[in-house]
Amino acid sequence: MAKPTTHFVCQACGSCFPKWSGKCDGCNSWNTLVEEATVDSFQKKTTHKAQKIEFSSLDDVSTPLPRLLTGIEEFDRVCGGGLVPGSVILVGGDPGIGKSTLLLQVAAITSGKTSCAYISGEEAADQVRLRARRLQVSSTSVQLATTTHIGDILKSLHHGPQVAIIDSIQTMYVDALDAAPGTVSQVRASAHELIRFAKKYGVTIIIVGHVTKEGVIAGPRVLEHMVDTVLYFEGERGHHFRILRSVKNRFGPTDEIGVFEMTDKGLQEVHNPSALFLSHSHEDVTGSCVFAGIEGTRPLLVEIQSLIAPSSLATPRRSVVGWDSGRLSMILAVLEARCGLVCGSRDVFLNVAGGLRITEPAADLAVAASLLSSLADAPLPKDAVFFGEIGLSGEVRPISQQEARLKEAYKLGFKTAFIPKSSKPLSVAEMTLISLAHLVELANYLEAKPKMRKAYGG
Ligand code: TYD
Ligand code: MG
Repeated sequence: MAKPTTHFVCQACGSCFPKWSGKCDGCNSWNTLVEEATVDSFQKKTTHKAQKIEFSSLDDVSTPLPRLLTGIEEFDRVCGGGLVPGSVILVGGDPGIGKSTLLLQVAAITSGKTSCAYISGEEAADQVRLRARRLQVSSTSVQLATTTHIGDILKSLHHGPQVAIIDSIQTMYVDALDAAPGTVSQVRASAHELIRFAKKYGVTIIIVGHVTKEGVIAGPRVLEHMVDTVLYFEGERGHHFRILRSVKNRFGPTDEIGVFEMTDKGLQEVHNPSALFLSHSHEDVTGSCVFAGIEGTRPLLVEIQSLIAPSSLATPRRSVVGWDSGRLSMILAVLEARCGLVCGSRDVFLNVAGGLRITEPAADLAVAASLLSSLADAPLPKDAVFFGEIGLSGEVRPISQQEARLKEAYKLGFKTAFIPKSSKPLSVAEMTLISLAHLVELANYLEAKPKMRKAYGG
């Protein structure tokens, strides 16, 4: 029997099935299977005569090519210290977040150091020029092209620019495949061709990928394992600043972030993000607490705010922005079970100021302090920062890079720090350190219980 030349590919997760069905068994999403040509039938068209490959040892001397520093510091740091020749970087993000703007700025500044091409499949050349004028980079020597054909692109890049930006992978297609641009197989095949070219000729290729609503168009997730570096460009709508976050990097650390602000002249670097994420209020507010966090290699101070209000609902609301809601439930449970502070029938709102998303468990103590302050209706000391992980028994556990956090806090004028009790004593000159072994100590310190009784008549 002849082998089938088509199969059904889930546009959300990339799983393949021989038959169509309404629901993908791989990721349980509905209506995401699309018929596409199999990779086998695609590969049959290329005739390759097998040759013997040559093996070499690991300590063979190879001269590493120097990294190219673009000059946009935030971008360079997230890439792990500049662009590596022959590497492929994927920049993902929601549509409209500013990927094209960022990369046009990167192209403009890079073109002053080496030859750089910006290939757009989404916008017409005039649109890109208009944007360039707005970003005041029209006079740079970026080589602009608009096409969606991978074959054409590779032919033009041969012996051409050292850095190429492809905007976006969802608009690109290879001839050999029958599927429409944007489907999983086109996205994969196009990326595969680009990656092969980059490795062979030492060209740095930056690929833009949209993260779209599940299932509609293949997202960059199907590409993550193929490329060297994956960066996500994030930001809240309504906020001006954007965060470039590295989630995978074969040539540098991950979890590094770069902070930018979107202005009318494009993206501006923010060198001191701590100042941005702290609110500038000078009044004593309850429920506001400063967390000394670490993003990648850089310490970052963030304000965490909470509000506990009487609820009119049968099931009180637990609303979280910028933090994990499961973790909030855990902290509330620990406060109730280990410290005797109950907020059962009240709504709890928690917000990380400025639209940042925190994933560190080190923020537990800051969240607890913020909740305690709201519960007791008493503001926290204004010059204090908090960090520490909280266990289910209410113990406060030491976390990593405590000194770096303290130094950043000191630099920004904080005088007190509530930190986990650890065997290794810490010292930062002129800072009062209050070490805590259990959450109860913090509640006692803030006198939460008596104040709470007064406030709620408990
Ligand atoms: P864009 O780079 O087109 O987003 P993406 O490529 O990720 O889809 O960014 C579009 C948004 O950026 C748009 O809403 C307008 C805004 N913007 C500015 O605020 N200032 C600027 O100078 C530019 C060029 C764009
Ligand atoms: Mg764009």
